[in-house]
Amino acid sequence: MKIGTKIIFAALAAVAVTVAVTLVVQKFVIERQGIDLTVGTMRAAVLEAENVRESISRLGQRGAFDRKKLFAEFQASGDLRNSTVYETIPVVAAWEAIAKVAQQEGFEFRVPKNHARNPKNAPTPDELEILKVLEPGAHAEYVRVDRASNRIIFARPIKLTQDCLSCHGDPATSPTHDGKDAVGFTMENWKAGEVHGAFVLKADLSRVDGVVLGGMLRSLAWVLPLTAGIGVGFYFFNRRMIVRPLHQSIAGLKTASASAELNAQTESLDRAVAALVTLVGGAGGPHTTDVAPPPFGAKAPAADGGQDTDRGPVPIAPTRLSAISTPVRSSAWRAGALPGGTTSKLPRQSAAR
Ligand code: HEC
Repeated sequence: MKIGTKIIFAALAAVAVTVAVTLVVQKFVIERQGIDLTVGTMRAAVLEAENVRESISRLGQRGAFDRKKLFAEFQASGDLRNSTVYETIPVVAAWEAIAKVAQQEGFEFRVPKNHARNPKNAPTPDELEILKVLEPGAHAEYVRVDRASNRIIFARPIKLTQDCLSCHGDPATSPTHDGKDAVGFTMENWKAGEVHGAFVLKADLSRVDGVVLGGMLRSLAWVLPLTAGIGVGFYFFNRRMIVRPLHQSIAGLKTASASAELNAQTESLDRAVAALVTLVGGAGGPHTTDVAPPPFGAKAPAADGGQDTDRGPVPIAPTRLSAISTPVRSSAWRAGALPGGTTSKLPRQSAAR
């Protein structure tokens, strides 16, 4: 893999990891908020119902209902759950109020109670658990996020007040003197302040899941184009600031190694030229100092007339070549060792490399 590709991959991997972690955190945050919001709606619905219960209770205590007429009406029909007196039972008015909100919000609503009068209020196993928590009276509410059934469960206890006892209180106070209340149910002998039953709302977590998914998709809609932009930006930045300078350095290195190679050849050429100079007897001539000048960074030339083999590199070979070739050529020619023109071949050939 090229270094440029590696750098872009590394940058994109860093962005991907950041985005993934952000999305996971966001998922938990949105989910928490969704759950809190749902629980808030449930709490509002139950509190509202408790208010309804209290106001119907108060109306009953103040004699707002013509009980005699209502009971006569119910006795004539025998159908309690469709009678008007049923609507005046505080807890019934309360659950009817919640039932409406529950329907609107898509919650499941239940009023579980041990030894329920209405069979449909018999608690399910998980509602029994709720009653176990709430009936001792120590908790104001119960909230549970059940991942197994993917549901949020919210419950508030139903606490009895004095006015409830005319129907749920001591059987000895039975208006019909048979231990039954005014509508024919056996009185339970409950006391004011006790908790019996609960208002329970259950919401499907999928409503929160939908919000979470929506939030994550919205984030991705922003992040993906941004990531693509970062990738493209990095690609150009990379080419300009990293790959191009690297290529330039490599080209520089190549030139340097090429000139080192050239230099090695120049060395042998030097020796050839020196041999030629010896041949033409130019050791004492006017141009001999030009023939074998000390190479750049080399030791002082040996006393034997430039036969030092421990030479360092010569950085600019062509220049040096021409520097040495011209005097060599002219002295060789002057000495009559070379026919005119033939010596020009050697330096030109080297300079052209
Ligand atoms: C007029 C008599 C009457 C009064 C007063 C009354 N209730 Fe009830 N209550 C009933 C009847 C009847 C039912 C059964 C309703 C049904 O079958 O749908 C019932 C049902 C309930 C239930 C539901 C569980 C079950 O047994 O099915 C709870 C909880 C409850 N009452 C609590 C209370 C509380 C708390 C009060 C006081 C605020 C109260 N009731 C006042 C007659 C009464």
